[in-house]
Amino acid sequence: MELTYRPRRLRTSAQLRKMVRETRMDKSSLIYPVFFMDGTDRVEEIPSLPGQYRCTVDRMEEILDPVVASGVGSILLFGIPEEKDEKGSQAYAENGIVQRALRKAKEKYPELFLIADVCMCEYTSHGHCGVLCGHDVDNDRTLDLLAATALSQVEAGADMVAPSDMMDGRIRAIRECLDRNGHSSTPIMSYAVKFASAFYGPFREAAGSAPSFGDRQGYQMDYHNRREAMKEALLDVEEGADILMVKPAMSFLDLVREIKDATDLPMATYSVSGEYAMVKAAAGNGWLDEDRIVCEMAASAFRAGADLYITYFAKELAGFMEEGRIG
Ligand code: PBG
Repeated sequence: MELTYRPRRLRTSAQLRKMVRETRMDKSSLIYPVFFMDGTDRVEEIPSLPGQYRCTVDRMEEILDPVVASGVGSILLFGIPEEKDEKGSQAYAENGIVQRALRKAKEKYPELFLIADVCMCEYTSHGHCGVLCGHDVDNDRTLDLLAATALSQVEAGADMVAPSDMMDGRIRAIRECLDRNGHSSTPIMSYAVKFASAFYGPFREAAGSAPSFGDRQGYQMDYHNRREAMKEALLDVEEGADILMVKPAMSFLDLVREIKDATDLPMATYSVSGEYAMVKAAAGNGWLDEDRIVCEMAASAFRAGADLYITYFAKELAGFMEEGRIG
């Protein structure tokens, strides 16, 4: 048969397939989330996230040495405080859990890039992402606390802050506060498009941050909405975000592509706890091949336009890239 185009020609050998590969990945694009908790001498596996741990600051080496050894160059820090209160005061305490973890990590691992998650839900007694007014989160009063949190994290050694609260105006509030205090070169990675998602279930168990009443639909986005995602992204560009994030990843890659095409900021996407837990559960039952699924999920995020990929599989992916299985 006479065919002008035979796309299969470019699939005839492994070498050629690699040569014409469209999506190239690199370890420097990976970010690994880490949970630090108050207390001493504890490292606990998180039941809903097998293979992921909560650790106290004095034992961070057990978690971070393998990260550094894998070639992953950046971590996203979360804190689990012993004390929670109405105003989440441990979020912005000079000696809060994340601040202590940042100080020690900066000293021990000067090459590691430290990103601090900025939010209140792990620190408030009610588990919402800000201070309450009645049963609602008070947007504007929360902004000051978020800015104070970001500032204390940067002063403790954070190289970048990543607000995940979804309050209106938080990027501007944080930017102004950092600038006023001499940190105008510290970038902000905004969780610009963050959906109210059941995919965060295992994280909330890990961080003890499930809301004690209601849900987060009053601030996180409705997952039916596309144009609103663009609105949120563009607002954060205007407010001074340096990197935009779409979260979760797997079910929202259409938006990664759309926002990537519409803005000129680097794009991040967060493959969240529920994505990890689903893969682990299915693989644990022998229902799918974990390594291959992890590679496909990562490649699809980058193919959709992500420049940065936050994932609990970061160390494994770095290994796959090293071996040339993907990338
Ligand atoms: C804090 C925050 C959450 C996640 C990241 N930052 C939880 C939430 O919004 O309830 C989820 C991360 C994950 O599921 O892996 N607001």
